[in-house]
Order: sequence, then C-alpha cells, then structure tokens
Amino acid sequence: MIKAKAILDFLDTIMNYEEESFWDNSGLQLGNSNNGVGRLGVCFHADNYTIKKAVKSEVNMLVTHHPLFLPKIRPLDKITQSDYENIRLLVNNDIVVASYHTCWDCANGGIRDTYSKLLGIKEIFKKCGLVIGDITPVDFNELLMQIKEKFKVKNVRPYGIKEGIIKRIGFANGSGFNHENIETCIDYGVQAFISGDAKDAVIRQAIDSGILCIDAGHYGTEHLGVKELARQIKKKFKNLEVIYIDSEEV
Ligand SMILES: [Fe+2]
Repeated sequence: MIKAKAILDFLDTIMNYEEESFWDNSGLQLGNSNNGVGRLGVCFHADNYTIKKAVKSEVNMLVTHHPLFLPKIRPLDKITQSDYENIRLLVNNDIVVASYHTCWDCANGGIRDTYSKLLGIKEIFKKCGLVIGDITPVDFNELLMQIKEKFKVKNVRPYGIKEGIIKRIGFANGSGFNHENIETCIDYGVQAFISGDAKDAVIRQAIDSGILCIDAGHYGTEHLGVKELARQIKKKFKNLEVIYIDSEEV
C-alpha cells in the first residue's frame, strides 16, 4: 500500500511554494505520514458535512484545499465545539489530512490556471490567484450564463449596469474581491471582474471605475480547480483509489 508520505512528497513537487501567502499553512495537518493509503479523498473544505462523507467513504487520507488549521487566522486556542467535533471524527477514523491552499492557487495547472482555461482567457497578466486577459467578445448577460454553466454553480450575482459587450476580463479565485485586484484591473482596462465573496466597498470601487462585477461564489470559483488536483494525484498513482468529495455550494 502507498504510504501517505509518498503522496505528500509528490504534492510538494507540483505546488508553487514560492508564491504561497506568508500566513498560509500547507502540507500535513493531522495524522501519521507512515500510514498506508488505499483510498484517498480530495475536497474543497473540511467542514462537518464533507468530513462525514469522507468517513463514510472510508478514506485513509483527505487532501483539502482550505487548511484544516490556519493558526494565523484562527488560533488554536480559539477552537470551537464544532472544530473539535470535526477533528475528533478525523482522529477517531485515523484519517491523515493534508492541505494545499495558496500554493495550489498559483501552481502551474492549479486553481487559477484551471479557471483561466475554462474561461478561454488569452492571458496578458497573471499573479497568484489573479489572471487578466481577453476572451471571445460576449454580451454581459451571455457571459453570466456561460459562467453559471462552466463553473457548475446555481448562484451567480452580477453588479453594475448589466449590459455591453465584454472582451477583457479579470478572474480571481476564492475571496478575490479586494481593492488591490480592482486597482490592477483598472490598470489593465478590465471590463468585467469575476471572483467570490463580494465586499460592498470593493464592488462600489469597481463600479465607479466602470468595471462590472460577477460574484460566482468562493466555492464556485475554486471547486473545479480542486477537482483538477484529484485528477493529477490519480494520474501519478495509478493503483491508488482517488475520490473527489464535493463540499457543495453554500
Ligand atoms: Fe478558497
């Protein structure tokens, strides 16, 4: 049986640690890396719903996108009862957990690149989690429909005057609605910006600058890139059973 360590070593080779955020926590989170892994689960977020599905699927290892522990954002002494319950479930079922977050966002073929390809962007600017470029010109409402379909999401929320032909777009996965991304989009003449977790002040800055916005959700702008990670693990370890465990849209 493949050891968890071998999977961790492979994942290290495909991540972009150089551009990983300083506050991030990637790699092994929980469990023994000498454990054997016959079945591996890959998921977007280790919430209670997803962990229960992982336990039911009898996985030996779970690779998550969002870190199980992000001490710089949520210190361990602030652990809640539901966090404890999730950790208890993972420990009791001896599931090794590893997480790959911003180092997968900006990896070659990672989350940003998966969505850039999906949108058919001819890239003119790229940094961790953000891509800007041209697409085949499309009516804004048609673009909305395309995003819903391509991203496989139910909820897509547009902001601004919803009309006009869009050629140049910006895309940032996850919580990409921040002033820095909008300022970069202004510099590059972006007409529509797509991301998740929209913030009021950022949306207003974009609209004032003539940039239409589309909030396709945090999950919506990342889950397909996590699925791609599952595909790459499967491609490397032919004898390993790899399953994608969907955390589902909230
Ligand atoms: Fe995320």
